Amino acid sequence: MLAEKYADRIAAQFAKYPDKRSAVMPMLYIAQEEYGWISPEAINEVADLCDLDPTQVKSIAGFYTMYSEKPKGTYWLQVCTDLACALRGADEFHTELKEYLGVEEGGTTEDGLFTVEHVMCLAACDRAPMLQCNFRFVENLDMDKMKGLIAQWRAEAGTSGASAPASEANGGAEG
Ligand code: FES
Repeated sequence: MLAEKYADRIAAQFAKYPDKRSAVMPMLYIAQEEYGWISPEAINEVADLCDLDPTQVKSIAGFYTMYSEKPKGTYWLQVCTDLACALRGADEFHTELKEYLGVEEGGTTEDGLFTVEHVMCLAACDRAPMLQCNFRFVENLDMDKMKGLIAQWRAEAGTSGASAPASEANGGAEG
């Protein structure tokens, strides 16, 4: 249960807001970190924590692309295909990436390592095309760079487990 396992973090988040309901997004981040996705059980837990109705929590989780309502691969690749990135080849990059990994939009590779989906602007337009991998930015992309990263992540997953590239971070998500 989140309430027991993350009691200190939850209390710290609640302390930032005038009422518990306002902390629903940080609670969703904690739930996603724990479970890897926002499951129906996670929705109910967050609703209990924040004194909200589960339908309210679900509507928030469904609105924002940083929350996933289905299980994801170890590396969750969210490719920006909004205007600035599209003007610099993001649509082609997105298509090539899916082909390279053998997945459809929103799909996960058979080994469970990579999920690919497109998202709207992530506010790194001057470094387009870009994606975020587990909430960390990877910028100025092309397929050669991407193939190198995929090989690196595959190697890491085979040894020490998953991580996102530390050199290009967007500062974390929980706030
Ligand atoms: S359009 Fe891609 S980061 Fe803004």
